[in-house]
Amino acid sequence: MAKRPEWLDNAVFYEIYPQSFKDTDGDGIGNIGGITEKLPYIKELGCTALWINPCFESPFGDAGYDVSDYCRVAPRYGTNDDLVRLFEEAHRLGLYVLLDLVPGHTSWEHPWFKESMKAEKNKYTDRYVWTDSIWEEPTGYGSLRGISERDGSCAVNFFTHQPALNYGYYRPQRPWQQATDSEGPVATREAMKDVMRFWLSRGCDGFRVDMAGSLVKNDEDCKGTIAIWQNIREFLNEEFPGAAMVSEWGEPCQSLAGGFHMDFLLHFGSSHYNDLFRCPEPFFQGCGDASRFVEKYIDSYERSGRRGLICIPSGNHDMDRLARHIHGDNRKLAFSFLLSMPGAPYIYYGDEIGMRYVEGLTSVEGGYGRTGSRSPMQWDGSENAGFSTAPAEKLYIPIDPSSDRPTAQAQMEDAASLRSEIKKLIAVRQAHKALQSLGEIEFISDGAKGKPLAYIRSGGDERIFVAVNPTDSAAELAFDGTPCEVVYSFGDQAELAENRCVIGGKSAVFVLIK
Ligand code: NOJ
Repeated sequence: MAKRPEWLDNAVFYEIYPQSFKDTDGDGIGNIGGITEKLPYIKELGCTALWINPCFESPFGDAGYDVSDYCRVAPRYGTNDDLVRLFEEAHRLGLYVLLDLVPGHTSWEHPWFKESMKAEKNKYTDRYVWTDSIWEEPTGYGSLRGISERDGSCAVNFFTHQPALNYGYYRPQRPWQQATDSEGPVATREAMKDVMRFWLSRGCDGFRVDMAGSLVKNDEDCKGTIAIWQNIREFLNEEFPGAAMVSEWGEPCQSLAGGFHMDFLLHFGSSHYNDLFRCPEPFFQGCGDASRFVEKYIDSYERSGRRGLICIPSGNHDMDRLARHIHGDNRKLAFSFLLSMPGAPYIYYGDEIGMRYVEGLTSVEGGYGRTGSRSPMQWDGSENAGFSTAPAEKLYIPIDPSSDRPTAQAQMEDAASLRSEIKKLIAVRQAHKALQSLGEIEFISDGAKGKPLAYIRSGGDERIFVAVNPTDSAAELAFDGTPCEVVYSFGDQAELAENRCVIGGKSAVFVLIK
């Protein structure tokens, strides 16, 4: 059983892509010192925790998801001491910090991989998934071949330069496929525990785990991978019981069985997340249909024991900016949903001010279509939007060139801005247990085309009726309860009566009910 850090129950996360957040040394790329400097900004918004994308040594072929030293901060971001200072400062402000753990693969420049390419057997020979002949390829994402003196092909996990670490095969069938409890896979698992130990003992509060469901190969139901995470959970329970673990897995009934505290709703696969925010007719733009999302959500929720542990992000470094598809005040409605759902909400840096997807960029560090969502944070109206003092052409990714690009400063000064609305919504969530991670949810209206989304959240001794209506027309909703107090409202004032609510078009309301 996973021990549970209590702070997760009312956590609101802020995701930081370190390259693009704040540059304090004028080299055009964000750094750890910049994150530390901006912690009060995150705190002021009301967020309680951060997830920082990988900030470790790397050749940056996949923006740092190709690690070459797990235990060293990439020099361009600063030093390990700078990261420890960030933890300390965050804790002083009451914020928690998750690092990004990439257990499934390394960079091909990692010293482990270089050793494993050698013909002569050594400590790292079995650290990666190798076949025993160059002419045989492992199945999956493809393989690395013809680059080693060792005779074999090595499985890759994502891009070609990301060789797959060896956690074994669920049912080995070929002589080179190893069982999960054989020496090589066990050594890999233990090495990953050492990485976790390294950062947890220096003050990090836990990890967002990259591709957490992908460790064991030929593991259709993920039973082998679940067993690995259970083993890691035992280690954490013993040595770091307060460590929080959030998985990029997308199957909470599997990841929670593995001892994760929370799992992400993914923007790919079968979640229908994109129906809400990123498709030709997104629900929150007022023209779409949320019903397949709701159906799938309820299924995952029920199968994972009705625990509110599915985290819904506003966006992330892998998908289009929310603002590319959802416009104007509809963004506020999208956030009224994101901030009233179970699980911890994740706000991708800049989404709180409606930062846009920057069109037409050449790929940077393996970003490809993702690059436009990774542009520098727009702090204020000064040079480079206050991100960096470097000449504009030296910036890691160009800033949104539009003259009316949103900035944090302007939005903080405007009570009607998206950021101000989000700040209000976070405060409402923090004031009501029913709206937080573990509060239960029961859907009243599934957002089928032309209809609002509505649900009742309950927790502690509270019940809160939530209705979000991005369509143009008012809608009548029936539910079981007596309205007592409106705790949040946007748009038209809702008409409330016993067991009934009429919500205006382009409006949202949260009501305490008895
Ligand atoms: C998921 C990460 O979010 C993404 O950015 C990365 O490219 C892949 N995993 C590979 O690590």
